[in-house]
Amino acid sequence: MSTRRQFFATGAGALVASTLPRIARADVKTFPYAEFEQRIARKDFKGMTKDVLPTPCMVVDIDLFEKNLKTMADYAKKAPIFLRPHVKVHKSVDVAKRQIALGAIGLTTATIAESELMSNAGIKGVLWTKQPASYNNLVRTIALTKKDPTFMFVIDDPKVADQVQEAAAAAKVKARVAVAVFAGLKRQGIENGQPAVDLAKKIMGSKNIQLEGFMAYSGTASHTKTFAARRKQTEKDLAGVNETIALAKKAGLPIGIVSGGSTGTYNMDKDLGLTELECGSYVFMDSLYKAVGGQSDDSVYTDFESSLSVLVTVDSKQHKGQVTTDYGNKALARPTDTVKGKPWLKVGNQGAEYGMLAWSDGGGEEIRVGDRVEIYCSNLDMSTNCYDRYYIAKGNDIIDAWPIMGRTGAAQR
Ligand SMILES: Cc1ncc(COP(=O)(O)O)c(C=O)c1O
Repeated sequence: MSTRRQFFATGAGALVASTLPRIARADVKTFPYAEFEQRIARKDFKGMTKDVLPTPCMVVDIDLFEKNLKTMADYAKKAPIFLRPHVKVHKSVDVAKRQIALGAIGLTTATIAESELMSNAGIKGVLWTKQPASYNNLVRTIALTKKDPTFMFVIDDPKVADQVQEAAAAAKVKARVAVAVFAGLKRQGIENGQPAVDLAKKIMGSKNIQLEGFMAYSGTASHTKTFAARRKQTEKDLAGVNETIALAKKAGLPIGIVSGGSTGTYNMDKDLGLTELECGSYVFMDSLYKAVGGQSDDSVYTDFESSLSVLVTVDSKQHKGQVTTDYGNKALARPTDTVKGKPWLKVGNQGAEYGMLAWSDGGGEEIRVGDRVEIYCSNLDMSTNCYDRYYIAKGNDIIDAWPIMGRTGAAQR
């Protein structure tokens, strides 16, 4: 959807235009800003609306968010397939607990710090999808195993298996490990077939390691455009994995789990050999994911809703066909971001704290200085990493605030 005219020609614009939020300036004038942080801390959201929030900030539409969680949970129950959602996109214990409450068997994590965060919050069944290659990570992995026997991680290298065995024996624990196998993404995963089976056998033979199965994340498939092409790519990426599973079973190895999958492939992964899904983005959806196309429409992926937006303020309007916002480089503005209700507006960067909305056919003339606009980020893994909380919105009202915890710096390492 490139121009305003095209957007309104579809009829979609009528509804959006009539429901676009306007600034309720009276609320802004009476809001007690001096107490803002104290009110967040004591969860007092009385009179707090989107209009009073300091920007740029992340806002979650609770209805759409809950719908997304339910859609995935219902799918997993019906398929059936286990769901172990990835936390990298939300980095939030509040979100994780809601996923568990809807039946997820645990969580998938990208860093040891995320694993510690979620496990320390009392969540069982955390699977860390990297191997403990550094001394720091090895020590923390073994410590977490001791504290939380449900914690699991992956290994794709026999040398790391030796290190883990040694450290686990010294700590008198049994580490739970899945072998990470190659699934199309050249960033990790041992070669399928005999090398993968040999590593699985080595782990089986390690007194202080328990073999859980395989981890096979086909990240190339997840963002492949169109449903049909995505299915083809997933089949290709998981073909070697299925050979490995067959060989391992033939060798008598207990393969409890085959973990992988993504928001883009959740409804094809079970047919193609996975026992559990590591989907993450479905909770919020970002603009690049929306563009991968779905089963019924090649141009937009409608299985899950865009439930998270960045609320920004229009700071200046001095030049034809554009306004300046406070959504700049530090807020991770990207040209592939899209604007809620006004998809013809182009998002641009104007500097660290300055962003731009531009139009070519009169599609933004009504935007005024002080207006609030909501932006859908291109890549939420990256964007959530630089905001500190989600404001939870029911319509225009803020009803809660959830901290984004395992983000950037020490909290992420
Ligand atoms: C190891 C792993 N599993 C699963 C996912 C799937 O996440 P999403 O559903 O956001 O595509 C990712 C995403 O980066 C990942 O790194």
